[in-house]
Amino acid sequence: MFIRPLRNFDRDMQTAADKSITHRAVMFNAFARGEAVVRNALLGGDCKSTIACMRALGAEITVDGSTVRVKGTRRFRDAVLDAGNSGTTARLLTGLLAGMNVTASIDGDDSLRTRPMKRVTEPLSLMGADISTADGKAPISIRPAKLKGIDYALPVASAQVKSALILAGLHADGVTRINEPIKSRDHTELMLKAMGADIECDAGTVSVGRSELESVDVCVPGDISSAAFLLGAAAVVKGGRVTVGRVGLNETRTGVIKVLESMGAKIVIDNIGYDVEPYGDITLTHSALKPFTVTSEIVPSLIDELPLLAAIACYAEGTSVISGAEELKVKESNRIATTVEALTALGGDVEPTDDGMIIHGKGGLAGGGKVRAHGDHRIAMTAAVAALGSEKGCEIEGAESAAVSYPGFWEIIC
Ligand code: S3P
Repeated sequence: MFIRPLRNFDRDMQTAADKSITHRAVMFNAFARGEAVVRNALLGGDCKSTIACMRALGAEITVDGSTVRVKGTRRFRDAVLDAGNSGTTARLLTGLLAGMNVTASIDGDDSLRTRPMKRVTEPLSLMGADISTADGKAPISIRPAKLKGIDYALPVASAQVKSALILAGLHADGVTRINEPIKSRDHTELMLKAMGADIECDAGTVSVGRSELESVDVCVPGDISSAAFLLGAAAVVKGGRVTVGRVGLNETRTGVIKVLESMGAKIVIDNIGYDVEPYGDITLTHSALKPFTVTSEIVPSLIDELPLLAAIACYAEGTSVISGAEELKVKESNRIATTVEALTALGGDVEPTDDGMIIHGKGGLAGGGKVRAHGDHRIAMTAAVAALGSEKGCEIEGAESAAVSYPGFWEIIC
């Protein structure tokens, strides 16, 4: 796919629905008492994988446009599950199934098979789970086991690992306490609370006890990680302006706004509302940009936006530094390597480091190169935004991967 530079970007629009919240709304309602309606669900590749897995486990799920109806089952059946490209599906399901008296296997595509699963299976084994993996990677096999609560300090801030342990804790004897070094996204905690679970969050520790869930209707807000690409387009295209409506503003996800503001971007947030999660309209108007510094404390709140922020940093004058972000290496691709490769192909001056990257911004990009997405949706969309403000645009190989989190992205951008 060839991305032509845009000479103007002035839009009022919605963005793709939140991927993390859609996964959870479908997965949690699939074993709750009752029937739930999930409105404005994201039907990208990853969430379709979750829907298929929950159906295979016995939940009744119907999809009508962006409305998903989920009728929970109190007893899952044994199943062979395909999580596709979705780490969230694989990790959350591993935790959920560990104490649910089922025999199941979870596998995925080539990218998923490279992703670390020990971070989930090790603490689950401490809880008593009977799980095996292919040397710490998928395929994962889960057999029936009786779980007990543990106190566990997460070595890395990861919402996927935290959520897997919380879900196991719902089916364990005693209390499961999970402490995280830096707070990661808390969509699991908020949704489970709304479903009546015995869950408390206090000073970096989540405590969860055995619980039965009641179904909950959810209206999914726009995904700030998808909205970020539209904000990014307005930031790099001269004279750009965009308003993205009803975007999720959970403060564990808004690091990208803080960094863009630190760069001098003109951002206004209004029409703030609350429906299990906060949401609002975000407007960004193009302005001259300054470089930024990102360190470990803020990384969990913008982990998926770091490739995009690196691209925007090429449009600032001066050196931006991202550190404390070694988790980028174990995403859908090694995002330190793939971001550096993509931005270099576009004429950027970017150096990889062990835990991030250094971006020497020159106030713009020449473009003209060919970027490989490496099967990673966020790399494909990052390259597209980087190209929109460039002189020559660029060719993207593997653009179709964007459909994992943002179906329709190319129609908006091209
Ligand atoms: C996600 C958590 C993040 C994020 C991923 C979705 C989630 O991963 O990168 O895209 O829905 O819980 P980690 O928190 O495990 O780093």
